[in-house]
Parts: sequence; structure tokens; C-alpha cells
Amino acid sequence: MNYYIITGTSKGIGKAIAEELLQDENNFVIGVCRNSTIQHKNYRHQPLDFSDIPAVEHNLHKVFVPFKDAERLVLINNAGVLGDIGYVGEGMPNERFEFVFDVNVIVPAMLMNTFLQVYQSLQIPKVIVNISSGAGKYPIDGWASYCASKAAIDMLSQTIQQEQHVRASDVRVYALSPGVVDTAMQEHIRESDAAKFSNVQRFRDYKEQGELASPEEVGSKIAWFLNNTDKFDEVIVSVRDM
Ligand SMILES: NC(=O)c1ccc[n+]([C@@H]2O[C@H](COP(=O)([O-])OP(=O)(O)OC[C@H]3O[C@@H](n4cnc5c(N)ncnc54)[C@H](OP(=O)(O)O)[C@@H]3O)[C@@H](O)[C@H]2O)c1
Repeated sequence: MNYYIITGTSKGIGKAIAEELLQDENNFVIGVCRNSTIQHKNYRHQPLDFSDIPAVEHNLHKVFVPFKDAERLVLINNAGVLGDIGYVGEGMPNERFEFVFDVNVIVPAMLMNTFLQVYQSLQIPKVIVNISSGAGKYPIDGWASYCASKAAIDMLSQTIQQEQHVRASDVRVYALSPGVVDTAMQEHIRESDAAKFSNVQRFRDYKEQGELASPEEVGSKIAWFLNNTDKFDEVIVSVRDM
């Protein structure tokens, strides 16, 4: 059996990846986030709120259990939040920085740390995919926390891959940008105030002009990628290359 631990499977891209993988009966998915929306014999849900770090720490052992028949293990850090849209220094409560970093960086780092530690001795292929964003590669006004969190996930991915290389391990680590996808996150972006985000009209136009990819289309590309990682040498990858 191939085991996929995927965060954020209740909706959007994470749900689409899980549903695509579950079409193959050799795949088993462990979904981790607050809400459970998938019913399938090869799906198990672990409820967790990533903004509650002590609860995440306390429940990690329920996620990373021994999988005795595992032939391949994959961790997909997909859950993510945009946080409050607005300029730094213009009324944003300080605790909102912590919220975005907890969900987008601290928990993914804890999950990678635990995944590598628990399954270290298993001589089977292991892959980590962190869902990143173009927003981690250039600044976007109004999205400071989100841009910084995705830049952090890119650097975590690159550093961990380098460490695995030094240890002569076959573990592969990727930071994958999914493109612009029609999910709740995009709705949140389109609803924002132009005074707090100068590019809002561009995102409204993407929707009106049908330029958003569907979660299903992106989920199927990511599922293809997971079966073809041998074709990708770089840590930073994009669905545009798939
Ligand atoms: N959509 C895009 O255009 C786009 C572009 C670039 C990158 N991305 C990235 O793609 C990933 C998925 O985004 P999406 O568009 O599919 O977003 P989405 O539809 O809003 O889904 C977000 C997922 O994250 C989970 N999540 C949110 N807060 C959480 C929390 N406190 N604890 C645990 N899980 C939490 C949600 O589950 P619960 O609410 O059930 O907890 C949900 O399943 C994110 O990392 C995002 O940054 C998206």
C-alpha cells in the first residue's frame, strides 16, 4: 500500500488530490485538518487545528503511526491560509502574524520533522511535497505574512532536501506551486478591499475570464507528479511544468 498523509483535505486542492489518489485501491490517505468531508474505505481523518500548536504536538503520534504494509510514504503539506489582507502597520492585530506562520510554516515543519524521524529506518521510497506559491517568490502588497510564509516553506524544503542529500538518503522534498486555482482562498482574495490590496481587480478578472484552474485539474496534475518524481530534480517545482 502507498500511504499519503495530506493536510487540508476538507476542500480545495487538498481534497482534489486526495480524491484523485483514492481512485487507485493501492493508495491509502490520512487526511489532517479541522473538518472531514471524505468518506472512503481507504481514507482516515485526523481532526487537528493547526493554529493550536500544543494540540498538534499532542496528536502527532496519531498521524504518524506504523504502516506495516507500506511500500511508499508521502507527506503533502497542503493546508494553508492567506490571513488578513492589509498593509503592515495599518491596523492589523499582531497575533495574526502568528496565526499565518503557525498554519503555513510551523506545523508543516513539525510534520516534516516527525515524518523523517518516525520513518527514517524504513527502506522504502519517501517523498515530501510542500504546497507553496508564486507569492513566496515575489512581494505582493497586502499579503506580507502569506508571502513570507511561502518563502519560508521554499527555504525549509531546499534545506531539508540538502540535509537528506548529505545523509545519502533517497528522501525527495519538493515545494510545489499549484498556480491560480478556483478555491475558497481565491474567493477570499476577490472579496478584499482595493485599498488594502492593489491587485484585487486582476484576481476578479481571472475569475470573470475563466482563467482559474479547477481544483480537480490541479489535483490530477499533482497526482501525476507524485508518480513521476524521478523526472524532477529541482526542489522548487510548479504545476505549469506538469
Ligand atoms: N488557490 C490558489 O489559487 C492557490 C495558489 C497558490 C497556492 N495555494 C496553496 O494551496 C494550498 C491549498 O489552498 P486552497 O486554495 O485549496 O485553500 P482552501 O480551499 O481554502 O483549503 C484550505 C485547506 O486548509 C485547511 N486549513 C485551513 N486552516 C486550517 C487550520 N487552522 N488547521 C488545519 N487545517 C487548516 C482547510 O481545512 P479545515 O478548514 O477543514 O481545517 C482546507 O482543507 C495552500 O497551501 C495555499 O497556500 C493556493
